[in-house]
Amino acid sequence: MRHFISAADVPNLDALVQKALDFKKFPFSQKQIGSNKRIGLLFLNPSMRTRLSTQVAAQNLGMEAIVFNIGSEGWALEFAEDAIMNGTTVEHVKDAAPIMGQYFDILAIRTFPSLKSREDDYSERYIQQFINYCGIPVVSLESATLHPLQSLTDIITMEETIAPWTETRRPKVVLSWAPHVKPLPQCVANSFAQWVNKWGKADFVITHPEGYELDTAFTNGATIEHDQQKALQDADFVYVKNWSSYNDYGKILCSDPAWMLTTASLNVTRKARVMHCLPVRRNVELSSEVLDSPASLVTQQASNRVWAAQAVLHSILEAY
Ligand code: CP
Repeated sequence: MRHFISAADVPNLDALVQKALDFKKFPFSQKQIGSNKRIGLLFLNPSMRTRLSTQVAAQNLGMEAIVFNIGSEGWALEFAEDAIMNGTTVEHVKDAAPIMGQYFDILAIRTFPSLKSREDDYSERYIQQFINYCGIPVVSLESATLHPLQSLTDIITMEETIAPWTETRRPKVVLSWAPHVKPLPQCVANSFAQWVNKWGKADFVITHPEGYELDTAFTNGATIEHDQQKALQDADFVYVKNWSSYNDYGKILCSDPAWMLTTASLNVTRKARVMHCLPVRRNVELSSEVLDSPASLVTQQASNRVWAAQAVLHSILEAY
C-alpha cells in the first residue's frame, strides 16, 4: 500500500483486519520494521484519539512520530494553484510539502472540510495537494470527506464482536443519524458506509431524517430508511453519528431530539451493540444510559484505533 486515503487503497480488507487483530495480541512483534523511520503527523484541526493512537502505533513499530499542529502553530498554508499570495496565507503547499517529504518517511494529515463549498470540500484538494507535492506515502487522519482509520477500526470492532451466529445469518448494521448542536462534516458517515459496503458481510441500513441523504458514491448498496424504529428492527450493531446536510450543504435541517438513541429505541433490536467514533455529545446524540451500559462498544472501538493505525503503517512500510 502506498497511500491510505480511502477504502479503495486497501487491496485485501480481510487481511488488513487480521493484521490489526494480530497486532492487538502481539503489539511489538514488528518493532524492527520502523527502525530509523519517521512519521510526521500534521493537524490542521483538533484531535485526541487519532493523534494519540497513531503515535502509539508508530512507536510500537519502532518509528519516531513527530506531531505538528500546523493549523494553530504553523504558517497559514495556501492551496490554490495560481494564488497571488497578498492575503493572509504565508506559504504555499507546493513549497511546504516537499520539505516535509525530506524530513519524514510517511506524512499523515488531518484536514476538516469548510462546509461552505461542497465542490471544494469533495475535491479533497488539501490532502491531494500533499500527495502531489510531498513525494512520500500519505495517510489520512480524517479528510474533508472520509475518515478511513476510524472506519477500519469500526470494521475491526465489529469483526471481533461478532458471535458464532454470523455463520448462520448475516449481521444487520444500522447507521443512525443523531442530532447535534453544530453542523458536522459527513466524513465519518461517508467513510463508514464506504467501508461496510467493501466489507460486504452485513445487511446495511442507513436511517436519517429527510434531507440528510449522503453522497451515493459512498452509500450505494445500503438501504435508506427514514423511520428510525423500522430501521432498528433486529439490528445487531447501531452506529450513531451526526452529519450536516450534503444536499443543502453544511446545513442543520433537523434538531428533533426523538432521533437521539436511547435504551427505549434499542428495544426492537437484537440486543444491538452501540458504536460511535467519539467525541460524543451525551444526551444529545446518545443517552448516557446507553453509553454507560454493556451495549456500548465505544471504548473498545477507540482502543482499536491503535491496531488499525499499526496495521496501516506496517502495510505502508512493507511496501516501501
Ligand atoms: N474519532 C476521532 O477521530 O477522534 P479524535 O477527533 O479525537 O481524533
